[in-house]
Amino acid sequence: SKGNHRHYMLKEIYEQPIVVAQTLRTYLRRLEGELAPLPVEDFDLASVRRVTIVACGTSFYAGMVAKYWFEQFARVPVDIDVASEFRYRAPVLEEGGLALFISQSGETADTLAALRHARSEGQKIAVVVNVPTSTMAREADLLLPTHAGPEIGVASTKAFTCQLAVLAALAANLAKAKGRLTPAEEREIVRHLSEAPASLNGALAYDETIQEMAGVVAVARDVLYLGRGPDYPLAMEGALKLKEISYIHAEGYAAGEMKHGPIALVDDSVPIIVIAPSGPLFEKTVSNMQEVQARGGKVVLISDYDGVRAAGEGCAATITMPKVHPLIAPLVYAVPIQLLAYHVAVAKGTDVDQPRNLAKSVTVE
Ligand code: M6R
Repeated sequence: SKGNHRHYMLKEIYEQPIVVAQTLRTYLRRLEGELAPLPVEDFDLASVRRVTIVACGTSFYAGMVAKYWFEQFARVPVDIDVASEFRYRAPVLEEGGLALFISQSGETADTLAALRHARSEGQKIAVVVNVPTSTMAREADLLLPTHAGPEIGVASTKAFTCQLAVLAALAANLAKAKGRLTPAEEREIVRHLSEAPASLNGALAYDETIQEMAGVVAVARDVLYLGRGPDYPLAMEGALKLKEISYIHAEGYAAGEMKHGPIALVDDSVPIIVIAPSGPLFEKTVSNMQEVQARGGKVVLISDYDGVRAAGEGCAATITMPKVHPLIAPLVYAVPIQLLAYHVAVAKGTDVDQPRNLAKSVTVE
């Protein structure tokens, strides 16, 4: 049931602190400050030479965030594709490859077909999936469940943050298996991930602020989302969420790509959502933000206290997130972009849980 919430989507957004904690319990030994061993059968994570990530939609964006982690922590090269493209090119899948499929439903036709193709090419198959009885779960060599519980809203929310939690744990496990993680680093990662549920709660506290500023976006015809590094896939996820449920045209862009084309779209009718936690990439993103402001773009800056203090002036609106470690920033910053899409859709009166033309599970190719 929706409980006190008006829509399943809102209920599911609010469940995130609990279901992420629930998911992390499988992957972390919090008190010991250790990663829980993964149920790897008949192969060794240390032997993984390349990771190929395949998924669709929101699950694909979770995979894009994970690419940064696999490369950063484990120094393993990563390929990533949407499932409908992966299948129809001739991907080079070599020995020692781990193919990683990410799916809420575990039934998405393109992702499943890609899984079977990768298996026929000799890849080990890892699956991050929310439905434990699904086809993909049954066909995995390494089954990595998310414990988000049933997700009813067509727009994926809690499945996404749970996928990110599992993928961070997988990246850390891969790094450990490859001897690239000292016990002190392992403890740090476990500590930061363990802080995610509380930080998600902190992010939910901005619900009302976001509802109040949703009007700025609801009147727009086009909306741009900008981010760098792991916040770039988050920008695309934000744009997908908005277009799915509010039917407003939205694009997610790497902040540094703006001046290579999309900046031509910018005028004072285009809200630009900038996802920029303070940190090493902050200054760069801010200079991209100023470029769009100079063209009249209405910026909504999502950052933390330091970021908003440093760059919030001149923005149409700011959303101040709790200060978090960069590892969990993609989970925490998912909340305001979900809430923004939700409140814009409610303001526009669309059918939030059952948007037009969309199905919860896409079982045709
Ligand atoms: O069940 P899956 O994770 O395989 O589904 C993939 C996409 O169809 C799904 O994420 C879709 O993009 C959502 N509607 C996004 O909100």
